[in-house]
Amino acid sequence: MSKNTLGLLILFLVVFSCKSPESAPEIQRGVVAQNAMVVAAHPIASKIGIEVMKNGGNAFDAMAATELALAVVYPRAGNIGGGGFMVYRLASGETGSLDYREKAPNAAHRDMYLDENGEVIPDKSSVGIFSVGVPGTVAGIAAAHKKFGKLPWAEVVQPAIEVARNGYPLTENASKNLNRFQEAFAQHNDFRLPFTADSIWQTGDTIYQANLAETLERIRDQGKAGFYEGKTAELIVAEMQKHNGLISLEDLKNYEAQWRKTIDFEYRGYQITSMAPPSSGGICLAQLMKMTEPFDLKKMGHHTPETVQVMIEAERRAYADRAQYLGDPDFVSIPTDSLLAPAYLTRRMQDFNYNRAGKSTDIQSGTFALTNESTETTHYSIVDAEGNAVSITTTLNSYFGSKVMVAGAGFFLNNEMDDFSAKPGVPNQFGLVGYEANSIAPGKRMLSSMTPTLVSKDGKLFMVVGTPGGSTIITSVYQTLLNVIDFQMGMQEAVNTPRFHHQWLPDIVRFEPEAFSAGLISTLKSKGYLIEEGNAPVIGQVNAILVLPNGTLEGGADPRGDNTAMGY
Ligand code: GLY
Repeated sequence: MSKNTLGLLILFLVVFSCKSPESAPEIQRGVVAQNAMVVAAHPIASKIGIEVMKNGGNAFDAMAATELALAVVYPRAGNIGGGGFMVYRLASGETGSLDYREKAPNAAHRDMYLDENGEVIPDKSSVGIFSVGVPGTVAGIAAAHKKFGKLPWAEVVQPAIEVARNGYPLTENASKNLNRFQEAFAQHNDFRLPFTADSIWQTGDTIYQANLAETLERIRDQGKAGFYEGKTAELIVAEMQKHNGLISLEDLKNYEAQWRKTIDFEYRGYQITSMAPPSSGGICLAQLMKMTEPFDLKKMGHHTPETVQVMIEAERRAYADRAQYLGDPDFVSIPTDSLLAPAYLTRRMQDFNYNRAGKSTDIQSGTFALTNESTETTHYSIVDAEGNAVSITTTLNSYFGSKVMVAGAGFFLNNEMDDFSAKPGVPNQFGLVGYEANSIAPGKRMLSSMTPTLVSKDGKLFMVVGTPGGSTIITSVYQTLLNVIDFQMGMQEAVNTPRFHHQWLPDIVRFEPEAFSAGLISTLKSKGYLIEEGNAPVIGQVNAILVLPNGTLEGGADPRGDNTAMGY
């Protein structure tokens, strides 16, 4: 996005989002529908999801169809070579979650990204074949569909095959994005990709993906085995062997998605359900909201220095705990109850002072009786006509993951290994530090920030929300929830509203450029906050759904990308 376009976008966001605590301006609604809604990162993916539901499918059928459509039309993050998390709420009120996060291959080891002096080898964990974790996406959507889907599997896979084979037109965003990565594609692949440009890509150019269509046909015909066994698995392993990569046929065959217990908490009478480890999202979100709850934000006002300060200081503390304590629960013991104990969270905010900025050097992870993208990731939210809801965040990590495409299979492989701590205390691509809890081990899942979340009120579905954004995911979900719950915004308005982010280390607050008042920024600076503004990119792309008081659904599709809400 050019600086001018960004400036215009932020101006638009400000006009739509300025709100004084006293006024009750008319809510600017997004797309409103009676029965069902899909909000996803690309209009073709949203359309495929909604058509599946119009044809009798439910939210889980639409999940599989939308996820595969994103793999075709949104290759920077949509994927079959990556992983993700799904949180669901059935019409009955039952909630649950599915972890289809990538895993370290069996040949991985703790120090695999260190040189002979024990220093991190630059880029080894974030680009190229060594950065790839065993993909989880196909196992995830197959498991979700098997348990809850209504339509035949082939019917939900077919639309993506047709788009891959018949082609789709590039949006302006997509063409610019592909042009930016031509050099990286050439560097990491020894063949011509469907995304390799003759000169440069233009808006409206058509992308055809015949190899990807064949891979999707194997998935359609053989289910999970169409990816993890047979020809697709052999092509992945051939790609590994070409570059001395680590993933074996056995790693692929053994991959299973895991059903996990959710993180559940209450905030001002709303029941919030989010993702448990190996995502840090749910625990950090619960910490943030419970540290915030004692403060009367509504009275303090939206984006006033006091409100922003409370939020920054809660963020500082939650991310310090993330670094120390969170990792894959199948490998490390996570003190969830202690991290979410009300007394602990009250104590955490006791040294907060309105007069001056906290310092991350003063805030270590908390102590208690002990018994840790890219921003490129993508989120989609779905509600079906029966009242089932799914909140799904899925990723290749970075833009186009490792940049390695599987020859003959037509899809990019992730670079999720970068989400492990390559070395305790050394930041990854998001500047996130981690320690032992998130060290590398064979078969272990790397810690994530993905925060697919659902909210209920009085026993009924209230909101479905999530976003991409690497380390900023958690804080974007947090701010969107506060925008609706504390500041009574509608869904689209809450999504449009400018965002900021702090993550303990580095001790800097990032604000979306040109979106906040000069008064706010100078007040925070005078209190000692270090502010990054101006060159910072936009933060997150929230795709969310709000159930309105009359039962209709409002989609909030983030204008920071090609995100689209479609309903019927
Ligand atoms: N790769 C981004 C995340 O999982 O947090």
